[in-house]
Amino acid sequence: MSDILPPDTALWQHVEATAREVFKRFGFEEIRTPIAEETALFERGVGEDTEVVGKEMYSFLDKGERNISLRPEGTAPVARSYIEHAVHQREPVSKWFYIGPMFRYERMKTGRYRQFHQLGAEAFGIAQPQQDAELIQLALVFLEKLGIEGVRLELSSLGDAQCRRRFSEKTYAHFSNFRHVLSADLQKTLERNPLRLLDSKEEVLAPLMASAPVLLEYLDEASREHFEELQRLLRLSDIDFVLNPRLVRGLDYYSRTAFEIVAEDSALGTASTICGGGRYDGLLEQLGGPSTPAVGFAMGLERLCLLMGANSKPALQGPALFLVDAGAGDEVWRLLWRLRKAGVVVEADLRGGSVKSQLKRANKLNAQYCMVLGEDELKTGCAKLKDMKDGTEREARLAELEGMLR
Ligand code: HAM
Repeated sequence: MSDILPPDTALWQHVEATAREVFKRFGFEEIRTPIAEETALFERGVGEDTEVVGKEMYSFLDKGERNISLRPEGTAPVARSYIEHAVHQREPVSKWFYIGPMFRYERMKTGRYRQFHQLGAEAFGIAQPQQDAELIQLALVFLEKLGIEGVRLELSSLGDAQCRRRFSEKTYAHFSNFRHVLSADLQKTLERNPLRLLDSKEEVLAPLMASAPVLLEYLDEASREHFEELQRLLRLSDIDFVLNPRLVRGLDYYSRTAFEIVAEDSALGTASTICGGGRYDGLLEQLGGPSTPAVGFAMGLERLCLLMGANSKPALQGPALFLVDAGAGDEVWRLLWRLRKAGVVVEADLRGGSVKSQLKRANKLNAQYCMVLGEDELKTGCAKLKDMKDGTEREARLAELEGMLR
Protein backbone atom coordinates (compact mmCIF):
# COMPACT_ATOMS: atom_id res chain seq x y z
CA MET A 1 0.00 0.00 0.00
CA SER A 2 1.49 3.31 -1.01
CA ASP A 3 1.28 6.95 -0.13
CA ILE A 4 0.88 9.26 -3.08
CA LEU A 5 2.56 12.61 -2.50
CA PRO A 6 2.83 15.81 -4.50
CA PRO A 7 3.98 16.22 -7.21
CA ASP A 8 2.80 12.67 -8.10
CA THR A 9 -0.76 13.55 -7.14
CA ALA A 10 -0.82 15.97 -10.08
CA LEU A 11 -0.13 13.03 -12.41
CA TRP A 12 -2.93 11.02 -10.78
CA GLN A 13 -5.33 13.93 -11.13
CA HIS A 14 -4.39 14.27 -14.78
CA VAL A 15 -5.08 10.56 -15.42
CA GLU A 16 -8.39 10.74 -13.56
CA ALA A 17 -9.51 13.93 -15.33
CA THR A 18 -8.65 12.39 -18.71
CA ALA A 19 -10.64 9.27 -17.79
CA ARG A 20 -13.67 11.34 -16.80
CA GLU A 21 -13.57 13.23 -20.07
CA VAL A 22 -13.28 10.06 -22.20
CA PHE A 23 -15.90 8.11 -20.23
CA LYS A 24 -18.30 10.98 -20.72
CA ARG A 25 -17.57 11.07 -24.44
CA PHE A 26 -18.73 7.45 -24.66
CA GLY A 27 -21.85 8.01 -22.53
CA PHE A 28 -20.66 6.48 -19.23
CA GLU A 29 -21.78 7.99 -15.92
CA GLU A 30 -20.05 7.69 -12.57
CA ILE A 31 -21.13 5.25 -9.87
CA ARG A 32 -19.59 5.11 -6.38
CA THR A 33 -20.02 2.03 -4.20
CA PRO A 34 -18.62 1.35 -0.70
CA ILE A 35 -15.09 -0.05 -0.43
CA ALA A 36 -16.37 -2.93 1.73
CA GLU A 37 -19.08 -5.47 0.92
CA GLU A 38 -20.38 -8.70 2.37
CA THR A 39 -17.79 -11.40 1.73
CA ALA A 40 -20.49 -13.64 0.25
CA LEU A 41 -20.90 -11.21 -2.68
CA PHE A 42 -17.38 -11.91 -3.88
CA GLU A 43 -17.58 -15.62 -3.10
CA ARG A 44 -20.73 -15.96 -5.19
CA GLY A 45 -19.89 -13.37 -7.84
CA VAL A 46 -16.16 -13.64 -8.48
CA GLY A 47 -15.83 -17.28 -7.36
CA GLU A 48 -14.59 -18.95 -4.18
CA ASP A 49 -11.92 -20.92 -6.05
CA THR A 50 -10.30 -17.92 -7.71
CA GLU A 51 -6.96 -16.69 -6.38
CA VAL A 52 -8.46 -13.26 -5.80
CA VAL A 53 -11.26 -14.48 -3.54
CA GLY A 54 -9.78 -17.70 -2.19
CA LYS A 55 -6.38 -16.32 -1.19
CA GLU A 56 -6.15 -12.56 -1.49
CA MET A 57 -9.11 -10.92 0.21
CA TYR A 58 -8.90 -8.72 3.29
CA SER A 59 -11.84 -10.21 5.21
CA PHE A 60 -12.97 -9.62 8.77
CA LEU A 61 -15.93 -9.91 11.13
CA ASP A 62 -17.41 -6.51 11.97
CA LYS A 63 -18.85 -5.68 15.39
CA GLY A 64 -22.20 -7.12 14.30
CA GLU A 65 -20.48 -10.44 13.43
CA ARG A 66 -21.02 -9.84 9.70
CA ASN A 67 -18.40 -11.25 7.38
CA ILE A 68 -17.07 -8.26 5.44
CA SER A 69 -14.34 -7.90 2.81
CA LEU A 70 -12.52 -4.93 1.38
CA ARG A 71 -13.46 -5.05 -2.29
CA PRO A 72 -10.85 -6.84 -4.42
CA GLU A 73 -12.51 -5.62 -7.62
CA GLY A 74 -15.41 -3.44 -8.77
CA THR A 75 -17.65 -5.54 -11.01
CA ALA A 76 -19.47 -7.58 -8.36
CA PRO A 77 -20.22 -4.47 -6.22
CA VAL A 78 -21.51 -2.54 -9.23
CA ALA A 79 -23.70 -5.51 -10.27
CA ARG A 80 -24.96 -5.74 -6.68
CA SER A 81 -25.87 -2.08 -6.80
CA TYR A 82 -27.67 -2.43 -10.15
CA ILE A 83 -29.82 -5.20 -8.65
CA GLU A 84 -30.36 -3.56 -5.26
CA HIS A 85 -31.68 -0.34 -6.80
CA ALA A 86 -33.79 -2.20 -9.38
CA VAL A 87 -32.11 -0.20 -12.12
CA HIS A 88 -33.36 -2.68 -14.74
CA GLN A 89 -36.90 -1.34 -14.15
CA ARG A 90 -35.92 2.28 -14.72
CA GLU A 91 -33.04 2.18 -17.11
CA PRO A 92 -32.07 -1.36 -18.16
CA VAL A 93 -29.40 -0.01 -20.48
CA SER A 94 -27.00 1.67 -18.07
CA LYS A 95 -23.35 2.50 -18.68
CA TRP A 96 -21.32 3.28 -15.58
CA PHE A 97 -17.72 3.97 -14.63
CA TYR A 98 -15.88 4.06 -11.31
CA ILE A 99 -12.50 5.15 -10.00
CA GLY A 100 -11.32 3.93 -6.63
CA PRO A 101 -9.16 1.73 -4.41
CA MET A 102 -9.28 -2.09 -4.48
CA PHE A 103 -7.54 -4.48 -2.11
CA ARG A 104 -5.78 -7.79 -2.78
CA TYR A 105 -3.24 -9.52 -0.57
CA GLU A 106 -0.86 -10.10 -3.50
CA ARG A 107 2.72 -11.25 -3.62
CA MET A 108 5.02 -8.25 -3.98
CA LYS A 109 6.17 -7.34 -7.48
CA THR A 110 6.68 -4.25 -9.61
CA GLY A 111 3.28 -2.89 -10.56
CA ARG A 112 1.47 -5.11 -8.09
CA TYR A 113 0.11 -3.60 -4.89
CA ARG A 114 -2.14 -4.59 -2.01
CA GLN A 115 -4.11 -1.39 -2.22
CA PHE A 116 -4.32 -0.37 -5.83
CA HIS A 117 -6.71 1.79 -7.83
CA GLN A 118 -8.92 0.79 -10.69
CA LEU A 119 -10.65 2.77 -13.39
CA GLY A 120 -13.52 0.58 -14.45
CA ALA A 121 -16.44 0.67 -16.86
CA GLU A 122 -19.50 -1.60 -16.84
CA ALA A 123 -22.28 -1.61 -19.44
CA PHE A 124 -25.56 -3.35 -18.62
CA GLY A 125 -28.46 -4.37 -20.85
CA ILE A 126 -26.86 -4.83 -24.28
CA ALA A 127 -26.05 -8.33 -25.48
CA GLN A 128 -24.77 -7.33 -28.93
CA PRO A 129 -21.03 -7.39 -29.69
CA GLN A 130 -21.32 -3.66 -30.49
CA GLN A 131 -21.19 -3.09 -26.73
CA ASP A 132 -18.03 -5.17 -26.33
CA ALA A 133 -16.46 -3.24 -29.21
CA GLU A 134 -17.48 0.14 -27.80
CA LEU A 135 -15.77 -0.65 -24.49
CA ILE A 136 -12.58 -1.67 -26.26
CA GLN A 137 -12.67 1.55 -28.29
CA LEU A 138 -13.11 3.54 -25.09
CA ALA A 139 -10.15 1.84 -23.39
CA LEU A 140 -7.88 2.42 -26.39
CA VAL A 141 -8.88 6.05 -26.91
CA PHE A 142 -8.18 6.70 -23.23
CA LEU A 143 -4.69 5.14 -23.40
CA GLU A 144 -3.96 7.10 -26.55
CA LYS A 145 -5.02 10.33 -24.90
CA LEU A 146 -2.64 9.59 -22.01
CA GLY A 147 0.17 9.15 -24.52
CA ILE A 148 0.66 5.46 -23.67
CA GLU A 149 1.93 3.71 -26.78
CA GLY A 150 3.01 0.20 -27.69
CA VAL A 151 0.05 -1.66 -26.28
CA ARG A 152 -1.36 -4.94 -27.54
CA LEU A 153 -5.04 -5.87 -27.46
CA GLU A 154 -5.54 -9.59 -26.80
CA LEU A 155 -8.91 -11.19 -27.42
CA SER A 156 -10.50 -14.47 -26.55
CA SER A 157 -13.93 -15.96 -26.02
CA LEU A 158 -14.91 -18.23 -23.17
CA GLY A 159 -18.19 -19.38 -24.75
CA ASP A 160 -21.36 -20.21 -22.83
CA ALA A 161 -21.66 -22.22 -19.62
CA GLN A 162 -22.02 -25.53 -21.43
CA CYS A 163 -18.99 -24.97 -23.59
CA ARG A 164 -16.98 -24.01 -20.53
CA ARG A 165 -18.01 -27.25 -18.87
CA ARG A 166 -16.86 -29.28 -21.86
CA PHE A 167 -13.60 -27.39 -21.99
CA SER A 168 -13.15 -27.83 -18.27
CA GLU A 169 -13.49 -31.62 -18.64
CA LYS A 170 -10.85 -31.65 -21.39
CA THR A 171 -8.55 -29.50 -19.28
CA TYR A 172 -9.05 -31.81 -16.33
CA ALA A 173 -8.16 -34.84 -18.45
CA HIS A 174 -5.03 -33.12 -19.76
CA PHE A 175 -3.58 -32.09 -16.40
CA SER A 176 -4.57 -35.39 -14.79
CA ASN A 177 -1.88 -37.01 -16.92
CA PHE A 178 0.71 -34.93 -15.07
CA ARG A 179 -0.67 -35.34 -11.58
CA HIS A 180 2.70 -36.68 -10.36
CA VAL A 181 4.41 -33.31 -10.91
CA LEU A 182 1.64 -31.22 -9.35
CA SER A 183 1.90 -29.96 -5.77
CA ALA A 184 -0.85 -30.89 -3.31
CA ASP A 185 -2.29 -27.39 -3.79
CA LEU A 186 -2.38 -27.69 -7.55
CA GLN A 187 -3.96 -31.13 -7.30
CA LYS A 188 -6.69 -29.59 -5.19
CA THR A 189 -7.23 -26.90 -7.85
CA LEU A 190 -7.34 -29.62 -10.51
CA GLU A 191 -10.17 -31.31 -8.64
CA ARG A 192 -12.13 -28.17 -7.81
CA ASN A 193 -11.68 -25.95 -10.84
CA PRO A 194 -9.25 -27.19 -13.51
CA LEU A 195 -9.60 -24.00 -15.62
CA ARG A 196 -7.77 -22.16 -12.87
CA LEU A 197 -4.62 -24.09 -13.80
CA LEU A 198 -4.58 -22.30 -17.15
CA ASP A 199 -4.07 -18.88 -15.57
CA SER A 200 -1.97 -20.06 -12.64
CA LYS A 201 1.47 -18.45 -12.28
CA GLU A 202 3.06 -21.71 -10.96
CA GLU A 203 6.27 -22.58 -12.82
CA VAL A 204 5.73 -26.37 -12.92
CA LEU A 205 2.72 -25.76 -15.15
CA ALA A 206 4.54 -23.75 -17.80
CA PRO A 207 5.85 -26.76 -19.81
CA LEU A 208 2.42 -28.41 -19.65
CA MET A 209 0.63 -25.48 -21.25
CA ALA A 210 1.74 -26.02 -24.86
CA SER A 211 -0.18 -29.27 -25.16
CA ALA A 212 -3.18 -28.15 -23.08
CA PRO A 213 -6.56 -27.94 -24.85
CA VAL A 214 -7.35 -24.67 -26.60
CA LEU A 215 -10.46 -22.80 -25.56
CA LEU A 216 -11.43 -21.35 -28.94
CA GLU A 217 -11.77 -24.85 -30.37
CA TYR A 218 -14.64 -25.60 -28.00
CA LEU A 219 -16.84 -22.57 -28.65
CA ASP A 220 -20.61 -23.02 -29.09
CA GLU A 221 -22.15 -21.68 -32.30
CA ALA A 222 -23.78 -18.53 -30.83
CA SER A 223 -20.60 -17.54 -29.00
CA ARG A 224 -18.55 -18.10 -32.13
CA GLU A 225 -20.84 -15.76 -34.11
CA HIS A 226 -20.66 -13.16 -31.36
CA PHE A 227 -16.87 -13.40 -31.33
CA GLU A 228 -16.56 -13.13 -35.11
CA GLU A 229 -18.87 -10.13 -35.23
CA LEU A 230 -16.81 -8.42 -32.52
CA GLN A 231 -13.66 -8.96 -34.56
CA ARG A 232 -15.38 -7.57 -37.66
CA LEU A 233 -16.47 -4.45 -35.75
CA LEU A 234 -12.94 -3.89 -34.47
CA ARG A 235 -11.56 -4.18 -37.99
CA LEU A 236 -14.14 -1.62 -39.13
CA SER A 237 -12.64 0.74 -36.56
CA ASP A 238 -9.07 -0.07 -37.69
CA ILE A 239 -8.27 -1.57 -34.29
CA ASP A 240 -5.47 -4.13 -34.23
CA PHE A 241 -5.79 -7.18 -32.02
CA VAL A 242 -4.32 -10.63 -31.55
CA LEU A 243 -6.28 -13.74 -30.63
CA ASN A 244 -4.98 -15.31 -27.47
CA PRO A 245 -6.73 -18.63 -26.96
CA ARG A 246 -5.02 -19.03 -23.58
CA LEU A 247 -6.65 -15.93 -22.18
CA VAL A 248 -9.06 -17.27 -19.56
CA ARG A 249 -9.02 -14.35 -17.06
CA GLY A 250 -8.72 -14.93 -13.31
CA LEU A 251 -12.33 -14.31 -12.27
CA ASP A 252 -15.21 -16.77 -12.64
CA TYR A 253 -18.01 -14.54 -13.95
CA TYR A 254 -16.90 -14.26 -17.56
CA SER A 255 -18.73 -15.72 -20.53
CA ARG A 256 -18.04 -15.09 -24.23
CA THR A 257 -15.68 -12.15 -24.80
CA ALA A 258 -12.55 -11.80 -22.68
CA PHE A 259 -9.86 -9.23 -23.42
CA GLU A 260 -6.71 -7.72 -22.03
CA ILE A 261 -4.54 -4.81 -23.01
CA VAL A 262 -0.88 -5.54 -22.43
CA ALA A 263 1.98 -3.05 -22.38
CA GLU A 264 4.78 -4.34 -24.58
CA ASP A 265 8.45 -4.07 -23.46
CA SER A 266 7.44 -2.21 -20.39
CA ALA A 267 9.12 -1.53 -17.08
CA LEU A 268 6.27 -3.43 -15.48
CA GLY A 269 7.77 -6.88 -16.11
CA THR A 270 5.28 -9.67 -15.55
CA ALA A 271 2.60 -7.27 -14.36
CA SER A 272 2.28 -5.71 -17.79
CA THR A 273 -1.48 -6.16 -18.15
CA ILE A 274 -2.93 -2.68 -17.81
CA CYS A 275 -6.52 -3.52 -18.64
CA GLY A 276 -8.65 -6.62 -18.25
CA GLY A 277 -12.28 -7.17 -19.04
CA GLY A 278 -14.97 -9.15 -20.72
CA ARG A 279 -18.59 -10.15 -20.85
CA TYR A 280 -20.43 -11.51 -17.83
CA ASP A 281 -23.97 -12.21 -19.03
CA GLY A 282 -24.70 -14.67 -16.19
CA LEU A 283 -23.51 -12.66 -13.19
CA LEU A 284 -26.62 -10.65 -12.38
CA GLU A 285 -28.86 -13.70 -12.36
CA GLN A 286 -26.32 -15.55 -10.26
CA LEU A 287 -26.47 -12.74 -7.70
CA GLY A 288 -30.26 -13.00 -7.50
CA GLY A 289 -31.08 -10.28 -10.06
CA PRO A 290 -32.86 -10.38 -13.41
CA SER A 291 -31.09 -11.96 -16.36
CA THR A 292 -29.13 -9.01 -17.80
CA PRO A 293 -26.33 -9.03 -20.35
CA ALA A 294 -23.28 -7.07 -19.24
CA VAL A 295 -19.71 -6.35 -20.25
CA GLY A 296 -16.94 -4.23 -18.77
CA PHE A 297 -13.27 -3.72 -18.05
CA ALA A 298 -10.94 -2.29 -15.42
CA MET A 299 -7.49 -0.72 -15.60
CA GLY A 300 -4.88 -0.38 -12.89
CA LEU A 301 -4.11 3.27 -12.24
CA GLU A 302 -0.68 2.60 -10.68
CA ARG A 303 0.35 0.77 -13.83
CA LEU A 304 -0.88 3.62 -16.03
CA CYS A 305 1.12 6.13 -14.00
CA LEU A 306 4.26 3.95 -14.17
CA LEU A 307 3.93 3.68 -17.93
CA MET A 308 3.42 7.32 -18.71
CA GLY A 309 6.68 8.49 -20.17
CA ALA A 310 8.29 11.74 -19.07
CA ASN A 311 6.92 13.45 -22.21
CA SER A 312 3.32 12.73 -21.47
CA LYS A 313 3.49 13.83 -17.85
CA PRO A 314 1.67 17.12 -17.31
CA ALA A 315 3.90 20.13 -16.59
CA LEU A 316 3.67 21.27 -12.99
CA GLN A 317 1.69 24.49 -12.84
CA GLY A 318 3.06 27.10 -10.49
CA PRO A 319 1.11 30.09 -9.18
CA ALA A 320 0.19 32.84 -11.66
CA LEU A 321 1.73 35.47 -9.40
CA PHE A 322 4.20 35.65 -6.54
CA LEU A 323 4.11 38.75 -4.35
CA VAL A 324 7.43 39.85 -2.86
CA ASP A 325 7.30 42.05 0.22
CA ALA A 326 9.99 44.74 0.01
CA GLY A 327 8.56 46.93 2.74
CA ALA A 328 4.88 46.97 1.79
CA GLY A 329 3.92 44.92 4.89
CA ASP A 330 0.16 44.75 5.45
CA GLU A 331 -0.55 45.73 1.85
CA VAL A 332 0.96 42.47 0.61
CA TRP A 333 -1.20 40.61 3.07
CA ARG A 334 -4.33 42.46 1.87
CA LEU A 335 -3.51 42.08 -1.80
CA LEU A 336 -2.95 38.35 -1.36
CA TRP A 337 -6.40 38.00 0.20
CA ARG A 338 -8.09 40.22 -2.39
CA LEU A 339 -6.58 38.37 -5.38
CA ARG A 340 -7.29 34.90 -4.00
CA LYS A 341 -10.91 35.85 -3.35
CA ALA A 342 -11.09 37.02 -6.95
CA GLY A 343 -9.88 33.62 -8.18
CA VAL A 344 -6.22 34.31 -8.93
CA VAL A 345 -3.66 31.64 -7.96
CA VAL A 346 -1.21 33.77 -6.03
CA GLU A 347 1.51 33.02 -3.47
CA ALA A 348 3.79 34.93 -1.13
CA ASP A 349 6.39 33.78 1.36
CA LEU A 350 4.56 33.90 4.68
CA ARG A 351 7.88 33.73 6.53
CA GLY A 352 8.84 37.13 5.13
CA GLY A 353 12.63 37.33 4.84
CA SER A 354 14.93 39.12 2.41
CA VAL A 355 13.79 40.05 -1.12
CA LYS A 356 16.42 37.66 -2.44
CA SER A 357 15.11 34.71 -0.45
CA GLN A 358 11.52 35.53 -1.45
CA LEU A 359 12.51 35.59 -5.13
CA LYS A 360 14.23 32.26 -4.66
CA ARG A 361 10.97 30.85 -3.35
CA ALA A 362 9.07 32.31 -6.36
CA ASN A 363 11.47 30.48 -8.67
CA LYS A 364 11.17 27.25 -6.76
CA LEU A 365 7.39 27.35 -7.00
CA ASN A 366 7.65 28.00 -10.74
CA ALA A 367 5.57 31.20 -10.53
CA GLN A 368 4.59 32.74 -13.88
CA TYR A 369 4.89 36.37 -12.75
CA CYS A 370 6.29 38.07 -9.73
CA MET A 371 5.81 41.54 -8.32
CA VAL A 372 8.02 43.33 -5.81
CA LEU A 373 6.06 45.69 -3.55
CA GLY A 374 7.77 48.42 -1.56
CA GLU A 375 6.80 51.86 -0.31
CA ASP A 376 7.16 53.45 -3.76
CA GLU A 377 4.73 51.01 -5.32
CA LEU A 378 2.19 51.69 -2.59
CA LYS A 379 2.50 55.43 -3.15
CA THR A 380 2.01 55.31 -6.93
CA GLY A 381 -0.47 52.39 -6.92
CA CYS A 382 1.61 50.84 -9.72
CA ALA A 383 4.20 48.06 -9.76
CA LYS A 384 6.27 46.03 -12.22
CA LEU A 385 4.82 42.71 -13.24
CA LYS A 386 7.81 40.56 -14.14
CA ASP A 387 7.49 37.54 -16.42
CA MET A 388 9.64 34.89 -14.69
CA LYS A 389 10.37 33.04 -17.95
CA ASP A 390 11.74 35.76 -20.19
CA GLY A 391 12.44 38.43 -17.58
CA THR A 392 10.35 41.09 -19.38
CA GLU A 393 8.55 43.61 -17.21
CA ARG A 394 5.43 45.67 -17.62
CA GLU A 395 3.76 48.30 -15.52
CA ALA A 396 0.57 47.23 -13.76
CA ARG A 397 -1.95 49.17 -11.72
CA LEU A 398 -2.53 47.39 -8.41
CA ALA A 399 -6.23 48.21 -8.55
CA GLU A 400 -6.57 46.37 -11.86
CA LEU A 401 -4.46 43.30 -11.12
CA GLU A 402 -7.35 40.82 -10.94
CA GLY A 403 -8.54 41.53 -14.44
CA MET A 404 -5.04 41.57 -15.85
CA LEU A 405 -4.07 38.22 -14.36
CA ARG A 406 -7.30 36.47 -15.15
P1 HAM B 1 -8.53 -7.81 -13.17
O1 HAM B 1 -7.87 -8.35 -14.38
O2 HAM B 1 -8.46 -8.62 -11.94
O3 HAM B 1 -10.05 -7.56 -13.56
O4 HAM B 1 -7.97 -6.37 -12.86
C1 HAM B 1 -7.99 -5.36 -13.85
C2 HAM B 1 -6.70 -4.55 -13.81
O5 HAM B 1 -6.47 -4.04 -12.50
C3 HAM B 1 -5.44 -5.34 -14.12
O6 HAM B 1 -5.26 -5.47 -15.51
C4 HAM B 1 -4.37 -4.47 -13.50
O7 HAM B 1 -4.03 -3.39 -14.36
C5 HAM B 1 -5.06 -3.92 -12.28
N1 HAM B 1 -4.67 -4.71 -11.10
C6 HAM B 1 -5.18 -5.88 -10.65
N2 HAM B 1 -4.56 -6.28 -9.53
C7 HAM B 1 -3.62 -5.36 -9.24
C8 HAM B 1 -2.66 -5.18 -8.19
N3 HAM B 1 -2.55 -6.05 -7.19
N4 HAM B 1 -1.86 -4.08 -8.23
C9 HAM B 1 -1.97 -3.19 -9.24
N5 HAM B 1 -2.87 -3.28 -10.23
C10 HAM B 1 -3.68 -4.35 -10.25
C11 HAM B 1 -11.01 -7.07 -12.72
O8 HAM B 1 -10.80 -6.63 -11.63
C12 HAM B 1 -12.40 -7.05 -13.33
N6 HAM B 1 -13.33 -6.51 -12.35
C13 HAM B 1 -12.41 -6.25 -14.61
C14 HAM B 1 -13.76 -6.21 -15.26
C15 HAM B 1 -14.66 -5.22 -15.20
N7 HAM B 1 -14.30 -7.19 -15.96
C16 HAM B 1 -15.51 -6.83 -16.33
N8 HAM B 1 -15.75 -5.64 -15.88
